[in-house]
Amino acid sequence: MNKINLAIVGATGMVGKTFIKVLEEKHFPINNLYLFASSKSKGKKIIFNEQEYIVQELTSNSFNTEIDIALFSAGSAISKKYAPIARDNGVIVIDNSSAWRMEKYVPLIVPEVNPQDIMCHKGIIANPNCSTIQCVVALKPLHDLFKIKRIIYSTYQSVSGSGIGGIKDLENGLNSLRPEKYPHPIAFNCLPHIDVFLEDSYTKEEVKMIEETKKILNDYDLKITATAVRVPVKYGHSVSINIEFEKPFEITQIYQAFNDAKGVIVQDDISRNIYPTPLSTESTDEVYVGRIRRDFSVKNGLNLWVVADNIRKGAATNTVQIAQLLLKD
Ligand SMILES: NC(=O)c1ccc[n+]([C@@H]2O[C@H](COP(=O)([O-])OP(=O)(O)OC[C@H]3O[C@@H](n4cnc5c(N)ncnc54)[C@H](OP(=O)(O)O)[C@@H]3O)[C@@H](O)[C@H]2O)c1
Repeated sequence: MNKINLAIVGATGMVGKTFIKVLEEKHFPINNLYLFASSKSKGKKIIFNEQEYIVQELTSNSFNTEIDIALFSAGSAISKKYAPIARDNGVIVIDNSSAWRMEKYVPLIVPEVNPQDIMCHKGIIANPNCSTIQCVVALKPLHDLFKIKRIIYSTYQSVSGSGIGGIKDLENGLNSLRPEKYPHPIAFNCLPHIDVFLEDSYTKEEVKMIEETKKILNDYDLKITATAVRVPVKYGHSVSINIEFEKPFEITQIYQAFNDAKGVIVQDDISRNIYPTPLSTESTDEVYVGRIRRDFSVKNGLNLWVVADNIRKGAATNTVQIAQLLLKD
């Protein structure tokens, strides 16, 4: 593909707006750009590469035009309904929602980890869950070297992970107003509740992290558990990862593996209080790792602190990177 006709579904949302920024920054070769959102945003103006574009209402006819790739970011219900319509019109869909991620014939791609899986797409490609993306970027080089046996994820996820509604709840909560998006106040609080509760008492977010990690690393024998927590941080998700490997390792080998890995930056100098934080990683595209230390309570155990910007690497940047893989076809 040379210059492509690109559509963005959910162009007015938190992720949609960041698509626009990332596409500009990466000089993505666009011929025509189509911006879709709900009826409420019809007629809104959005600037891309100094040119003005008008947001159109998404309908079943939106893809009856020459569109090569559509970046979807308008929630699962919209993806379930409209991604097949787009695909049947010859559009390649890269979907940010969880609607298609676990379908067998839908590749779930993190370009630093499993770019080769994109080859088997049948018109829909899925972008993984934001916390999962940053974790697998850090875990892949370690899995290759020392074979991971078990992972314990504990997340500290920012309110922007819930879109514009999450940010509003935090800002309103700081002024003692009641939350609308969350069941409890998020200002000055932590909620061990991201997405809905399932029958087995896990949240859907926790199950996404467990199942998506296995699919992306192509290792269904991995033992994984997760606790996902919403914290009063605007941007950037942090994850404490406890890992048990099959093979022994030296801490120096862990540093070396991260230094050699694509998309990973080590920030780990406790003598100078250096470790990644959500604020220090905001608006960047890399995955940051710190607090690298052995877990002495098990054989071959390791603890990591992994931080990334959930709207960029966790969503928009990863999606645009997937689109860039398609350009190489
Ligand atoms: N935020 C994150 O960290 C993150 C990370 C990874 C994946 N995601 C996924 O990305 C998606 C969007 O997230 P977000 O954070 O950008 O949410 P958001 O800020 O709430 O934006 C939602 C977008 O969807 C559009 N939309 C809503 N109803 C629609 C309809 N009926 N037809 C067409 N468009 C419609 C909205 O348009 P209007 O403005 O017109 O309502 C808006 O553009 C979700 O699936 C989310 O799970 C988010």
